[in-house]
Amino acid sequence: MWSILLTIGLLFAVQGPVRCTNIEESHEDIDLEPLDRGPYFVIAASQNVTALVGKSAILKCRVRNLGDRTVSWVRHRDIHLLTVGVDTYTSDQRFVASHFPRTEDWTLEVKYPQPRDSGTYECQVSTTPPIGHSMHLSVVEPVTTVVGEPEMYINRGSTMNLTCVVKHSPEPPPAIYWTHNEEEINYDSPRGGVSVITEKGEITTSYLLVQRTQPADSGSYTCHPSNANEKTVTVHVLNGEYPAAMQHGGQLRLGNPSFVIFLASLLTFLNHQQ
Ligand SMILES: *[C@@H]1O[C@H](CO)[C@@H](O)[C@H](O)[C@H]1NC(C)=O
Ligand SMILES: *[C@@H]1O[C@H](CO)[C@@H](O)[C@H](O)[C@H]1NC(C)=O
Repeated sequence: MWSILLTIGLLFAVQGPVRCTNIEESHEDIDLEPLDRGPYFVIAASQNVTALVGKSAILKCRVRNLGDRTVSWVRHRDIHLLTVGVDTYTSDQRFVASHFPRTEDWTLEVKYPQPRDSGTYECQVSTTPPIGHSMHLSVVEPVTTVVGEPEMYINRGSTMNLTCVVKHSPEPPPAIYWTHNEEEINYDSPRGGVSVITEKGEITTSYLLVQRTQPADSGSYTCHPSNANEKTVTVHVLNGEYPAAMQHGGQLRLGNPSFVIFLASLLTFLNHQQ
């Protein structure tokens, strides 16, 4: 009698809203029978996680037919038992397991994650023998890049457009400032024609624009995001005669400075021959 009621209840649950809202898992519903199948993982709901440094990471493990077994989390790096049920077993109190009643989800929260927390974590169920499902946590750090670094070559008179990109920061940098040869850039200087445009978002981009570049504008430019590493690009303002093809683009982004020096000396040589 009870088993019939259970079957009806279970079928009802399977047919219910869960099925409609979670397409990824629809294949899981098919093999739900028979009832005495032991605990198993819903893989689609227990995936790899990428987290930002310092921003809580949550690993999720969905277990069906758990019965009276317990769910534990194990770190593979050192085969360390982190949690059993909702109790933390490690001295590192950043690891907190949770379970919300009437759900099948068991979560492991890693507070203030650091890159060294990256690795494989396993959700284990206390069957005999135990069964486990592993997932990967990647903790990424903010990273700043300047397009064209480390060296850029710009023709005199053209507009310098330096692009600084900040990725993986938990929040958009509250401020980004630029320096030229270690001095903060003054946008109201008598030189004029210097401006900055910053677009904040998941990826923050700051453009430094210097119009009518002069040899004095050469040197190192550094982008300083307030919550990520700084990045420097060395700019060379070319002050010579170059073929139309090279002047056309205005801004040259050549990876190999020796090539430019070679080209410059070749052109000088040719000029002298004429
Ligand atoms: C999870 O991450 C591991 C390690 O990076 C990788 O081998 C595996 O394919 C990933 N799984 C999925 C479903 O992306
Ligand atoms: C500066 O360069 C970026 C690409 O790096 C481009 O999207 C942007 O429009 C340029 N800005 C100006 C004013 O040329």
